[in-house]
Amino acid sequence: MEANNLAIVVKKDDAEKVKNLLIKKNLLDSSRKIKRYNDRVEIPIKNEIDFDINTDYKIVKQNDFLLRKKFVPFEEIKEKLRGKIPMEDFEKLPKKWEKLGNVLVIKLKGIKNKREVAKVYAQVLNCKAVLEDVGGIKGIERKPVFKLIYGKDTETIHIENGIKYKFDVSKIMFSSGNIDERIRMANTASKNEIVVDMFAGIGYFTLPMAVYSKARVIACEINPIAYKYLQENILLNNVEKLVSTKLGDCRIVAPRGVADRVIMGYLDSINFLPYAIDVLKGEGIIHVHQNCKEEDFPDRLISKIKKIAKEKGKYAEILFYKKIKSYAPRILHCVVDVAIS
Ligand SMILES: C[S@@+](CC[C@H](N)C(=O)[O-])C[C@H]1O[C@@H](n2cnc3c(N)ncnc32)[C@H](O)[C@@H]1O
Repeated sequence: MEANNLAIVVKKDDAEKVKNLLIKKNLLDSSRKIKRYNDRVEIPIKNEIDFDINTDYKIVKQNDFLLRKKFVPFEEIKEKLRGKIPMEDFEKLPKKWEKLGNVLVIKLKGIKNKREVAKVYAQVLNCKAVLEDVGGIKGIERKPVFKLIYGKDTETIHIENGIKYKFDVSKIMFSSGNIDERIRMANTASKNEIVVDMFAGIGYFTLPMAVYSKARVIACEINPIAYKYLQENILLNNVEKLVSTKLGDCRIVAPRGVADRVIMGYLDSINFLPYAIDVLKGEGIIHVHQNCKEEDFPDRLISKIKKIAKEKGKYAEILFYKKIKSYAPRILHCVVDVAIS
């Protein structure tokens, strides 16, 4: 087996425990995605496991077709829909979906009997509600444009990396594609650091940072619904002693001159960078998220960041940058870590 495409497959219920253990042992390969197949989870690892993990597991090569075939529930969905929908709709059935807690988000464009289809997806994937993604994520507050097709209740608790995120999937976004960044943020700060999360949402970065790094976080959020869940999630994850919150526009509510580190988890952070610099205790680290044309990454983006820092009388040293995901054709979602002095 090649060492670089190994994964460990465990039961869904054991996945969080095993993943945390892998993080601790520095064996989790966060450059590859964690995959879920029905009741199994496939976690990418850097090397073979050489310690006892106290549960049933299998080491596989990722992309192992047989493994996927065994666990992919799509065949079961098709089987259950046989005779219930027109033949031409089988071609349109989604092979991909997003499961957040026990709420499912799928695209059903062109399908006639959407409710029946959604009901079967919900049964097979063990979900209480199904939302159709009709317009993606929109606006400053990053609200989902989803339509309820099956079920009633769209509030759920989604668990990732041992963190509990409670939210209403019909009202609040959760980008599964940012999982690696949420894991990176869990292990980035150190204890006793003061961090300001300028765009906290429901606690995407605030919670892993407080839980795993024990940093003190001041979390700002403008959307009252996201803010309500942020407060609930702080309690759910037992970090109320470490995290305080501010409702409102971070340009107004974020305290100035206090932070060792600032997180800017917003796709147009660069326009807020002068404010983030003021939030730092004179110097510190800023994680700048930005949508960026493919051809502008990283050079033009870095030049812009340095220019803004210079205009504030500061020097920006680039510590790290990476592409998080493709956002739209030829547009990337990127993050740049900058040391300001
Ligand atoms: C949804 S999060 C981004 C997602 C996150 N990067 C992740 O990992 O999934 C961005 C949040 O910033 C909030 N927001 C937008 N403008 C803001 C502002 N000026 N001040 C504070 N919060 C703001 C939005 O309401 C939203 O909840």
